[in-house]
Amino acid sequence: MKTKHLSYSSSGKAVIRKAAEILRNGGLVGIPTETVYGLAANAFNPRAVEKIFKAKGRPQDNPLIVHIADYDDIMDIAEYIPFSFMQLAKTFWPGPLTMIVKKSEKIPDVVTCGMDTVAVRMPSHPIARKVIREAGVPLAAPSANLSGSPSPTCAQHVYDDMDGRIEAILDGGVCEVGVESTVISLAEETPILLRPGIISKEQMEQVIGYIDVHNAVVSKPEEGAKVASPGMKYIHYSPKTEIILVDTNDDSAFVNFVNSQDSSVGAMIYKSESGLFNVPSVVYGEKNDYDSQAHFLFEALRETDKLGVKTVYVRLPEQQGAALAVYNRLIRAAGYKIVKP
Ligand code: TXA
Ligand code: MG
Repeated sequence: MKTKHLSYSSSGKAVIRKAAEILRNGGLVGIPTETVYGLAANAFNPRAVEKIFKAKGRPQDNPLIVHIADYDDIMDIAEYIPFSFMQLAKTFWPGPLTMIVKKSEKIPDVVTCGMDTVAVRMPSHPIARKVIREAGVPLAAPSANLSGSPSPTCAQHVYDDMDGRIEAILDGGVCEVGVESTVISLAEETPILLRPGIISKEQMEQVIGYIDVHNAVVSKPEEGAKVASPGMKYIHYSPKTEIILVDTNDDSAFVNFVNSQDSSVGAMIYKSESGLFNVPSVVYGEKNDYDSQAHFLFEALRETDKLGVKTVYVRLPEQQGAALAVYNRLIRAAGYKIVKP
């Protein structure tokens, strides 16, 4: 299959129409969202949704997020809408928040992998919204990377992983947020944070009160354990290069540790630190600015494969606010390998 490159900037409306036509005909299109690129299919078409799992090499038990553009669309997706859902939607939608609720019968089992719940998100990205509206159906869309790789934050990353596997990529430039949406389950009595994102637990607690954090957000799920969000049990975000986290908040200890290693190592560092390291490095944002670290994280992880080293060291982030999103991705990228300097 030849993957078409649809550039939004050159011919706006026409490419939206083209992307929507492919989607209505049961094809797959890589689309930009404010978080990461998604690999979209018509959520009501089981055949089309099956193709997503094939194209990504995604495990068959890892359910997809359904994307909508308008509040009315939720009626076809959720069986009922909890009050907390309305409160969070009012505050954070459209935007990088995914909420899990009981599913309606209209959503095919292949989308939810047979679960009785469904994940829903209303993206804020104008191109994503236009495509959903023009297609006239909700879009099931995981991140548009090969299963296990870092999520794509620009059209080139989607090409690198999906060329020849999907009908088209709609190029809308670089994604603003850089990490995937926050995922919260509202399907049980107590809300549970399943995946941290730049909308933090603390921000949501101001709206709906206490939120539990699922164990797998901050630690390795036990072998064979039943995980609330199946995506959490798989190796994730991993470049080919080995990533190892260094548990220290002393920056000079980190610099000394890295500089004392042999020539097979590199580092992921803050922008202000260029020049301090005598090993190859990639920059992933500013110190103490977790939004900027989130923005550059996946790109930096992909870039580590170009450093020509075996192992790349990264500092272990904190676990508060938006830092938790970076922490959660990095412990997975590192396969939970953490050392002291
Ligand atoms: O920002 C995002 O959320 C991006 C863009 C494209 O919207 N999408 C994304 O999708 O990150 P994906 O498939 O890579 O991650 C979805 C996560 C997975 O961890 C999956 O297990 C979980 O959401 N999930 C989906 N449906 C679920 C459900 N019914 N119950 C529990 N977890 C669910
Ligand atoms: Mg993903």
